[in-house]
Amino acid sequence: MLDCRRIREDFPELETGVVFLDNAASTLKPRSVVEAMADFSIKRYANVHRGVYKISLEASKAYEDAHEAVAKFIGGRWSEVIFTRNSTEALQLAALTVYANKMLGRGDEVLITMAEHHSNMLPWLRVAEMAGARLKVLPLDGEGIPRWDLLDEYLTRRTRVVAFGHISNVTGYKSPVREIARRAKEVGAIVVLDSAQGVPHTPVNFRSMGVDMAAFSGHKMLGPTGIGVLWMREDLAETLNPPLGGGGTVERVEMVDGSIKISWERPPWKFEAGTPPIIEAIGLMEAVNYLSRIGMDNVEEHERRLTKVLLEKLGELDYVEILGPRSHERRQGIVAFNIGGMKPDWAGLALSRRGIAVRTGLHCAHILHDHLGSPQGSVRASLYIYNCIDDIEKLVDAVEHVYKRHGGEGKH
Ligand SMILES: Cc1ncc(COP(=O)(O)O)c(C=O)c1O
Repeated sequence: MLDCRRIREDFPELETGVVFLDNAASTLKPRSVVEAMADFSIKRYANVHRGVYKISLEASKAYEDAHEAVAKFIGGRWSEVIFTRNSTEALQLAALTVYANKMLGRGDEVLITMAEHHSNMLPWLRVAEMAGARLKVLPLDGEGIPRWDLLDEYLTRRTRVVAFGHISNVTGYKSPVREIARRAKEVGAIVVLDSAQGVPHTPVNFRSMGVDMAAFSGHKMLGPTGIGVLWMREDLAETLNPPLGGGGTVERVEMVDGSIKISWERPPWKFEAGTPPIIEAIGLMEAVNYLSRIGMDNVEEHERRLTKVLLEKLGELDYVEILGPRSHERRQGIVAFNIGGMKPDWAGLALSRRGIAVRTGLHCAHILHDHLGSPQGSVRASLYIYNCIDDIEKLVDAVEHVYKRHGGEGKH
């Protein structure tokens, strides 16, 4: 069990009284993450892997420890953990790596779903266009859940990549990753998981899930902005060439017979071009240590309990239209909804006046919203470890108030 009231004490921003329900966009930071970054910045900072003086070696060791801590958190090895700027950049890096290593050619296929966040849609569209490959898009059912029952029809011997979201940032639906990965492997495709909403909320072990590459963001799991992760299975990380070159990626560059010859560094360094997010890595290390102290099973269980109550209470309001599955068993920590035909931004502003912070709009998932009959978007409440039942009650009270007071206004 997780003690959300005790946890709240670690998050100074909650002292403002805000009811923070925008965790799928970005989470708040515990004091210990900020302190770890401040301590490192003030007392121990130097660039990494570029000097032999004492603080540079120590900073390099701390930066490597951060890879190790993140690897442990996701059941991987440190050489598989590539630091990027965020999930979006990690997914671009995955797509560009596939392209740069000629794993995708003319007539080949990439399979995604209609439910993808744009960060896991646009990079594949670009790369498919560049390679002359075809981007196939798995349709959704009436609740916005990918039609995995059609997977075998969509997979062909030309499918080179299957890329999909771990947990939807709109419906909260959690994909059966192992099963999808197993079937994708049968046609020899590589499996790329957008785990931006997965890793922060549920225990993961990508290797045992059968995934080849997976992306997530530090800022969605108590860490700072400016750091994300591309996890790449060890043998791929060893053998594939990086699509981005620059400082830190090479062991040696030399002129041989008038041409430049490159010997790449070992992974993960060959994939981390330029000065990396050093201070942010220290923050992310503390964030995963903080979450590990709580236990990811407890995080998941806590969110499940709150999601059940949130769905039940919102479900009692007949003017609230919930997007996605009605059963709490099919979702994790995220509930997007509309209030009696009000414009989402208008509703969000009215909720904000009552101290509630929720995301409004299309959540970078336009096609999913169109499919669910909400092209205007939705209001999204998303939960984390410092949310307790009183937050749900305050949200539901505020929704009732907003509808009763302003139900006739702000319609689209
Ligand atoms: C499912 C999903 N994928 C990718 C992203 C992109 O994350 P970031 O903005 O940190 O790159 C998000 C962010 O909301 C997301 O929810």
